[in-house]
Amino acid sequence: MIRLDSVTKTFGTGPSALEDLTLFIDKGEFVFLVGPSGSGKTTFLRLLIREMLPTSGSIYVSDLDIVKLPTSKVPHLRKKIGVVFQDLKLLADRTILENVLLPLEMVNMGHKEAVGRVENILEQVGIYDHKDKFPIQLSGGELQRAAIARALVFSPDIILADEPTGNLDMTTSWEIVKLLQEINKDGTTVIMATHNNDIVSSLLKRVITLEKGKLVGDNKKITKKAEEKSEKSEDKKETEEEKEKPSEEENKK
Ligand SMILES: Nc1ncnc2c1ncn2[C@@H]1O[C@H](COP(=O)(O)OP(=O)(O)OP(=O)(O)O)[C@@H](O)[C@H]1O
Ligand SMILES: [Mg+2]
Repeated sequence: MIRLDSVTKTFGTGPSALEDLTLFIDKGEFVFLVGPSGSGKTTFLRLLIREMLPTSGSIYVSDLDIVKLPTSKVPHLRKKIGVVFQDLKLLADRTILENVLLPLEMVNMGHKEAVGRVENILEQVGIYDHKDKFPIQLSGGELQRAAIARALVFSPDIILADEPTGNLDMTTSWEIVKLLQEINKDGTTVIMATHNNDIVSSLLKRVITLEKGKLVGDNKKITKKAEEKSEKSEDKKETEEEKEKPSEEENKK
């Protein structure tokens, strides 16, 4: 689904923003991308959507060779990948509905069909009631939901979320992560760049760690085992609870 082979990205004469990065992300995975500020998280995400080219190495996304992809095919790639940018990029002079509608207008989808689709997505992310408001009238969490809605308009295979809980309190951050998990359950691959250690350590997900552009951690195998183990112990707990629960007959006595 996503494959990077020895990817290096250097800006000008500075040190590499990414260095010799090789990794594989399977369809349907939920991945946290962590690392200190400046470690290359946003650069990694921008390479996947062909906002720029790597200095060397190869990148494949959904069987598309990102380096060789002709510019004319970039819009096709962007439909497969929904992006929630670090700075959201919502337009202040358009309502929430109009903001989410914009990508569909750009591909000339019929207005009625487009509005129907956007309304369904706004319902899904929980901000339907705010559809006619302007971005300035929404809270940080609601704006984040609007940006997620816009990323979902083409039913993408992959969602990239760059620090989606950055300016939010803990409760709202969890709500956003839960929303991304729900989207992931429907089969969409989710990659979330974050500094939120509480959330990362509370969830048994794959964590890819970057430091100064290098891959310094990837707990893929460990996580798979831990996830299986936790599922098993959940099952066990339920059976034990069932056993402990007195039957209705006994309750009546
Ligand atoms: N367009 C650019 N021109 C020059 N240098 C850049 C450019 N974009 C990123 N860099 C540099 O590349 C490195 C990685 O930046 P990047 O934005 O990917 O980090 P990050 O992990 O997303 O950080 P943060 O957690 O603060 O968002 C940094 O040293 C940054 O200064
Ligand atoms: Mg960043």
